[in-house]
Amino acid sequence: MKVLSVASELYPLIKTGGLADVAGALPLALKAHDIETRTLIPGYPAVMKAIRKAVKRVEFTDLLGEHATLLEAKHEGLDVLVLDSPTLFERSGGPYVDPASRDYPDNWKRFAVLSKAGAEIAAGGLPGWQPDLIHVHDWQTALTPVYMRYAETPELPSLITIHNIAFQGQFPASYFPYLGLPPHAYWEAIEYYGTMSYLKAGLSTAHALSTVSPSYAEEILTPEFGMGLEGIIASRANDLYGIVNGIDAQVWNPSTDPLIATQYASGALKKRQANRAALVARFGLDEDDGPIFSIVSRLTWQKGMDLLGEVIEDIVSAGAKLAILGSGESALEAQLLAAASRYRNRIGVVIGFDEPLSHLMQAGADAILIPSRFEPCGLTQLYALRYGCVPVVARTGGLADTIVDANEAALAGGVATGIQFAPVTANALRRAIQRTMRLYRDPRAWAQLQKQGMKSDVSWGRSAERYAELYQRLVSKGH
Ligand code: ADP
Ligand code: GLC
Repeated sequence: MKVLSVASELYPLIKTGGLADVAGALPLALKAHDIETRTLIPGYPAVMKAIRKAVKRVEFTDLLGEHATLLEAKHEGLDVLVLDSPTLFERSGGPYVDPASRDYPDNWKRFAVLSKAGAEIAAGGLPGWQPDLIHVHDWQTALTPVYMRYAETPELPSLITIHNIAFQGQFPASYFPYLGLPPHAYWEAIEYYGTMSYLKAGLSTAHALSTVSPSYAEEILTPEFGMGLEGIIASRANDLYGIVNGIDAQVWNPSTDPLIATQYASGALKKRQANRAALVARFGLDEDDGPIFSIVSRLTWQKGMDLLGEVIEDIVSAGAKLAILGSGESALEAQLLAAASRYRNRIGVVIGFDEPLSHLMQAGADAILIPSRFEPCGLTQLYALRYGCVPVVARTGGLADTIVDANEAALAGGVATGIQFAPVTANALRRAIQRTMRLYRDPRAWAQLQKQGMKSDVSWGRSAERYAELYQRLVSKGH
């Protein structure tokens, strides 16, 4: 089977979060199921730089009035299609925001053009390669199934995966005439309380919907988590699937990882010590053996990062340390930097996006804190499991699905892999940290938690199989 995946990020070419990891790892895992994926992404500067050997395949002369060249390249096992349109994608900021972190004002057009290119390929626009199914991700590519629905060519089966429903691609209705869709598409698909919602449009037109964990698939049916789209999702409940993410077990493997200080396997946990020492040095922390909690995260409300301020004193007074790698809301960045200068040697903060350091954090920290208010899947807890770093997570979405709480029964049965807490409040987080500290002080219990975590199956194996089955079902239904 041939699948066109359309995505706005793709590891290792361009990444701001978990979407990139998933878009990059799933095609590799699907190869075992005889599924050949090509992934269409925008030609951002980082991408153009990395794919110098790309071959020109198609000239699109009129994608919503824009000219774009479709390039094809192989990159680290991935078949990549790059939409080269300097006017839209050659920008000095990130994929979505300018250097001052403001959304690009023409994001509505940048991602409509990307989506339109996806629909063109679906309709046979790439000579010699006809996909059987189109898989799109999040609002940035959600218009592909919409363009497919209103095209004159027969429609291919399509799947839209929701990675994060908080971002919906909402734009003024006044841009609708420029999208090149027939007028009736406005009311049928895209209208959302007097504006346009790209995500809503994709959710109402794709043949199947999925999200990245079974719990989140349930949660988005409720107003609390559906963020306004719960009605449309409920109307598609029969076509909704929750498939938990896996991880790229080659990239995230402590016994071969070149980005950490010392490689180790679960039989030699003592070797983590060298990574811990490297982390201590990097963050300027004290060398005592109090536990090191880490954070590798976007610094946002979703991730519960505002709660940290309320527990920092508890962490310090309990003799623990905190190493934070993240970037995001400037008020949170400032708050954490202030805490680091107040508690020198106990709290260390690196603001920025640093892929190599994110590996060392998993290899060197004792536990990772993930107090998310909502979490469609979450990948950092999966990396942590693999690296013997104990996840301390909010009981929500994919965190609830992937971590086994160290309650008495789970400890006795030897199946615990981390600590869960609820609700997402500073008090509950504080209690979870205390519980973690108690376990840490019992070396046997702690080693058991680490080893059990490292045994968890966090690979793409089962989940890739579920995607393969879903693709197959859609293709054999004729959509
Ligand atoms: P989300 O996609 O919501 O941000 P995930 O847990 O699914 O959350 O994925 C986050 C990904 O981004 C992980 O691969 C994580 O290691 C990485 N990451 C997050 N913040 C940073 C950072 N500051 N530096 C390096 N990697 C980061
Ligand atoms: C989103 C979600 C995260 C998920 C990732 C990959 O960014 O916030 O929970 O793991 O997508 O699916």
